Amino acid sequence: MTTQADIRRRVRVWEILRATGPWSRHPHPGQKFLHGWLPVGPLGDAVRKWHRDPVGIRKLIAAVDSGDRSHARLAGGLHGHTELIEHNNGTQTVHKIMTDAGDTMGPGFGPKRQADAEQLIGLMGQRLGAPVPRVLRYDDDEVFMDVVPGERADRAAAAQGIKVNELAAQHGGTVAAARLATLDILAGNWDRGNETNWNVDDNGIVWGYDHALSFWDGDGTTAAAPPEAAGPFAAMWFLHFDPSKQRHGWGGFDWADNPLTPADIAWLRQRLTALQPDFEALGRHDWWQFAMTRLGTIAAHARGTQGVFT
Ligand SMILES: Nc1ncnc2c1ncn2[C@@H]1O[C@H](COP(=O)(O)OP(=O)(O)O)[C@@H](O)[C@H]1O
Ligand SMILES: [Mg+2]
Repeated sequence: MTTQADIRRRVRVWEILRATGPWSRHPHPGQKFLHGWLPVGPLGDAVRKWHRDPVGIRKLIAAVDSGDRSHARLAGGLHGHTELIEHNNGTQTVHKIMTDAGDTMGPGFGPKRQADAEQLIGLMGQRLGAPVPRVLRYDDDEVFMDVVPGERADRAAAAQGIKVNELAAQHGGTVAAARLATLDILAGNWDRGNETNWNVDDNGIVWGYDHALSFWDGDGTTAAAPPEAAGPFAAMWFLHFDPSKQRHGWGGFDWADNPLTPADIAWLRQRLTALQPDFEALGRHDWWQFAMTRLGTIAAHARGTQGVFT
């Protein structure tokens, strides 16, 4: 269990690093050239340990490296300790330390599993161009991520005096929402139906976060997230609902024709294939396989004519 004192200690380490640690100008011995620009010390070590290729998270690394000047506890906190951090270089990040979710989710939902999910969905989002934060992995149970813009769905809906599903319908027709839906389907994220796990920004773009419980293997073996819980955007773009097929108020969903084009599918396949080593580096070959299988499933229903990703 990481305590506030641990966090403060780490932050002090970064402050010391900031004052004393030179940025290494040369590749770290034995490491890929790309790692050469990392700061020396614990942060650089963490990035080398957790990321095959840190390009794309430089902004996060620079922010964390600068130390922090304030912390504010964010709402939520069932399975993690989430804070908004303002760093000394002016950048804000969200810092999340996972706690064991085994009591509510079943055995196996330890902190590392959740941090792996946050990291890998962040990477998928980055490489696929989906509206989710980029993620810097710092420890077994600990990540930093971008602060996504906009207002949280529950608050945005309340401010307009409408229901969350109306807000979702207002913004669901955007490319951003279609991409977020695709990511949720590929990653078996069933937690987007929670209106505290997405934002809407001033341009009407939706942004997702809180991916700690993705790749959920409902029965312990198959990573088959129930599609009916996949949230409003996945329901809008990928699923068909037939109440007559519901049993005990559950189910009744089937795969619907979706807006992806054959070119989108080919592009997604190429991008996901390139991510295989990143999943394997974390011992998550099964999650990568799940995403590829899901891609095959939605490919069979891809009827789009205007590219969502291409
Ligand atoms: N990347 C982010 N950008 C903006 N706000 C965030 C981000 N991550 C989390 N939050 C805010 O913090 C709250 C709690 O974080 P979340 O990851 O959903 O954890 P949990 O639901 O497990 O407590 C969210 O409801 C949201 O308000
Ligand atoms: Mg949440």
